[in-house]
Amino acid sequence: MSVTRAVAIGCGHYLPDRVVENAEFEKTLETTDEWIRSRTGIERRHFAADDQKTSDLALEAAKMALKDAGIDASDLDAIVLATATPDQTFPSTATKLQAALGMNGGFAFDIQAVCAGFIFAISTANSMIIAGQAKRILVVGAETFSRIMDWTDRGTCVLFGDGAGAVVLEAQQGDGSSADRGILSTDLNSDGQFNNLLYVDGGVSSTQTTGVLRMQGQEVFKHAVTKLAKTGETAMERAGVTADDIAWVVPHQANLRIIKRTAAKMGISMDKIVVTVQDHGNTSAASIPLALSVAKQRGDIKRGDLLLMEAIGGGLAWGAATIRW
Ligand code: UT7
Repeated sequence: MSVTRAVAIGCGHYLPDRVVENAEFEKTLETTDEWIRSRTGIERRHFAADDQKTSDLALEAAKMALKDAGIDASDLDAIVLATATPDQTFPSTATKLQAALGMNGGFAFDIQAVCAGFIFAISTANSMIIAGQAKRILVVGAETFSRIMDWTDRGTCVLFGDGAGAVVLEAQQGDGSSADRGILSTDLNSDGQFNNLLYVDGGVSSTQTTGVLRMQGQEVFKHAVTKLAKTGETAMERAGVTADDIAWVVPHQANLRIIKRTAAKMGISMDKIVVTVQDHGNTSAASIPLALSVAKQRGDIKRGDLLLMEAIGGGLAWGAATIRW
């Protein structure tokens, strides 16, 4: 049986030049490099320059992904961009990227699922490709979380970074088996009763300010381990594969302890887990495509590898996807 699959034909990423080591926070906060490293695995993160917007980071990642795919922006039918830190309230950052890429046709829109944004975006793009609405879609995760930090809150401001990652998906025919290249399964979830665990304390229709990030870290941590393992297992089951079939897990990069515990719960050894949190911090919706592109660049992820991606963030919103690269 011939089925349409959304196959990844290229990926890319971008990190702003400014690197901030943990030690820099010791100057302004009651914190230490040792605390940050041991509790989170984070050693450094990148921050965007004052004049760099989310769409600027997205543009660089998109250019790299298009080059990797060997296509032009004019070959795209759509852009789906996940961000919680848009350039402006409207229009969408995706349409900013569309203009910057010189892409005059097709359509572009943003997705807001915070740290799970890339999973929601790739799942949406997958559905549109299967439905025949688009043949080639650029899926981007791009964030400037440095803009929404409370620099006096040591429990949050040391955790996040800025960056962007992008993947080009193309409609190709498969035989419907788990041997097909492309997205094999997705699983999306949210539970709004947990809004208060991770949120920004401002907004257009509430305070008319941008606000800053607030988090009950320990509570989010507990939800993360159980929900990530469950969604990962659901995605594998839907794809008809097991943990033994997975070549690489590309998890959301929030905390190395969460990554390790989730891997253990799913029965997947750490040598199969892509870890970039030490160099990027938590880049929210950018974290999975960033990790994916970095792992591909260093030669770890190869054509035909079966990948499991999983993420959780504000909402709470969480999900997973399997893709054969
Ligand atoms: O991407 C969205 C999903 N987000 C996440 O997945 C984040 C989930 N949560 C976490 O990663 C962890 O909960 C944190 C890294 C945020 C915190 O780690 P923790 O081991 O849960 O620490 P804690 O919140 O229980 O705090 C322990 C202690 C507290 O001091 P007391 O009350 O024991 O005296 C904190 O005030 O550590 C203190 N603390 C710090 N100390 C030094 C909190 N932040 C810092 C800091 N430096 N930066």
